[in-house]
Amino acid sequence: METQHPMTYGRITGWGGYVPPNVVTNRDLPEWLDTSDEWIVQRTGIRERRIAGPEETTATMCLAAARRALAQADLDPQELDLILVATSTPDYHTPPVSSLVQSRLGASRAAAFTLVNGCTGWVYGLCTAYQFIHTGIYRKVLVVGAELLSRFVDWQDRSMCVLFGDAAGAVVVEATPEPCGLQGFVLGSDGDLSDLIIMPGCGSAHPCSPEVLARRDQYVRMNGREVFKFATRIIGPICHQAAARAGLELDAIDWIIPHQANLRIIQAAARQMGLPLERFVVNIDRYANTSAATIPLAFAEALDRGQAHPTQRFLFVTFGAGITWGAAVVQPWPTSGAASQEAVAQADGRVPTG
Ligand code: COA
Repeated sequence: METQHPMTYGRITGWGGYVPPNVVTNRDLPEWLDTSDEWIVQRTGIRERRIAGPEETTATMCLAAARRALAQADLDPQELDLILVATSTPDYHTPPVSSLVQSRLGASRAAAFTLVNGCTGWVYGLCTAYQFIHTGIYRKVLVVGAELLSRFVDWQDRSMCVLFGDAAGAVVVEATPEPCGLQGFVLGSDGDLSDLIIMPGCGSAHPCSPEVLARRDQYVRMNGREVFKFATRIIGPICHQAAARAGLELDAIDWIIPHQANLRIIQAAARQMGLPLERFVVNIDRYANTSAATIPLAFAEALDRGQAHPTQRFLFVTFGAGITWGAAVVQPWPTSGAASQEAVAQADGRVPTG
């Protein structure tokens, strides 16, 4: 297979995560759900999640993560060329949440758009950002993944509401002549499976009406068992494909950062790929599934606590509504030269994201 070589490279100069302070453990869940800590931990690996406070929205969480990423990149928002926000739980259907983020950051030079692609949104967004960087069109791009799912799941449906949490994650990508950044990727979609994860009501197909609300169709529904089967089938092959496009074997990848939907899916992927679970960054126990935010949040945490270094190779792999999927091999910083030494020194002295 041919490897993918960009014209201009993109260094990830800043990263940041945000989670709301309100922790809801499995034991704190409402009694009417008829669930248990044991069931949730055994079936999913989730122990607790963060739930946004009444004053928080998707845009405020985006801003918190974006400000951390920009501060670390030492970048004035005015310097941004593009802001890309991946979310399926925006503040409003319109205006796009990306425009709210642009305004509140004061990033007046930046183009802005929102990418609605379920849990795969941030990986799709990162690959999109790199296309603008690789062609030389834009030089400084902010890519945010944020989700406030606690307001879009049905709190009377125990098979759904226990699985999700609220969070945001962001990175800044800047053009550089030094080889680094996105080294190979795979994106895909099978719309024949679109019914597996669906919010049936309050769109143009079934506009909001008392009947739609009575059926509780304004909330997300999922065929969990089928999504589980699909995910375990797709992750291994797309990881191999993305690595091959980067001209690499999976052995050359330092860290796999998988979408955090279910610990059993991650364990199955590790088995299939013949890689130890220690090479996977896992935080589902603390945050549950935060959809488009899981990967940028886990990435920021892994770097912030010094578990991973920005000169290492990461493989982001995800699946979600659509059904869509994506895998991307990324080396945030170049491996040689002063820049990489600076990166390692910075990573060593980093404070945790929280
Ligand atoms: N607490 C207790 N019991 C629950 C429960 C809960 N929170 N949710 C469901 N159950 C029950 C079901 O009612 C069912 O009971 P029944 O056998 O009497 O009908 C039983 O547990 C088994 O349900 P099932 O859906 O078969 O469980 P599962 O082992 O497939 O696990 C998921 C369910 C959702 C955890 C799992 O399918 C999953 O993680 N799927 C993938 C989801 C995913 O990746 N989503 C993200 C897409 S981006």
